[in-house]
Amino acid sequence: MATLDQGALAEAYAIPEPDQWTGPTWLRVNFVMSLDGAIVGPEGLSRSLGTEADRTVFHLARRLSDVVLVGAGTLRAEDYRPSTRPLAIVSGRLDLAPTLRVFTDHGPEHVRPMILTTSTALAGAPDWLRAEADLVDCGADSVNLLVALDRLAECGLGRVLCEGGPALFTDLLEADRVDELLLTIVPQLVGSPEHLVNRTGGFTPPLRLHLSEVIEHEGTVLTRYRARESRAR
Ligand SMILES: NC(=O)c1ccc[n+]([C@@H]2O[C@H](COP(=O)([O-])OP(=O)(O)OC[C@H]3O[C@@H](n4cnc5c(N)ncnc54)[C@H](OP(=O)(O)O)[C@@H]3O)[C@@H](O)[C@H]2O)c1
Repeated sequence: MATLDQGALAEAYAIPEPDQWTGPTWLRVNFVMSLDGAIVGPEGLSRSLGTEADRTVFHLARRLSDVVLVGAGTLRAEDYRPSTRPLAIVSGRLDLAPTLRVFTDHGPEHVRPMILTTSTALAGAPDWLRAEADLVDCGADSVNLLVALDRLAECGLGRVLCEGGPALFTDLLEADRVDELLLTIVPQLVGSPEHLVNRTGGFTPPLRLHLSEVIEHEGTVLTRYRARESRAR
């Protein structure tokens, strides 16, 4: 089995220095996808799509980031574990079960999660949730993602890794705040309707990305795309 060159990967996935960013954050989005564009396997989760190369990039991208950003839908579906790295959850409704592992399984080594939400939801937030997470006001009735990213930057968390899902990714694209996409393509055909972008109307004009890295390992293709050529230094 061919091994992945960790040094080469770290170089290929290095995040630019802050003086090259066009905003207060560098927002990297990471997804794994099948050949037919599915972002979940037959069990409805992304983990069955994972390969060794995907897992390697997943962990490397985490190590290179200051904070992991995730939509509440993905947190709920994948039942995220508590993390030793900062985790920021986007939730407009705060409809989060106390039984989620991120709230039940934490120990002293884990970082308290942040939840980026609205003032309306905050007003009705249950006491248990206030005890388990830092709730951050990012808008009156809807989460303003620009404000949310500014809040992360103000906390010194400028290198943002978004782990999805499609609803959050689509909103971040519409907010024009995505700097790059790490897309891992695994050699499977799944036949699922769950795709990377959940916008039925389409983008007009289509968004153009720029390939900056491509690495193959055991049939898995690791790609890195920049959102704008001008940002690719
Ligand atoms: N293949 C992969 O790499 C990959 C990666 C990630 C996820 N996935 C899969 O994708 C699926 C989940 O994706 P999804 O699109 O349903 O969920 P998602 O994008 O993870 O989360 C959607 C939820 O996040 C909150 N949210 C997102 N954008 C928001 C905004 N602009 N303002 C306010 N709240 C916002 C809302 O939470 P509230 O409902 O709490 O308001 C919304 O319901 C799962 O099946 C997961 O396994 C696959």
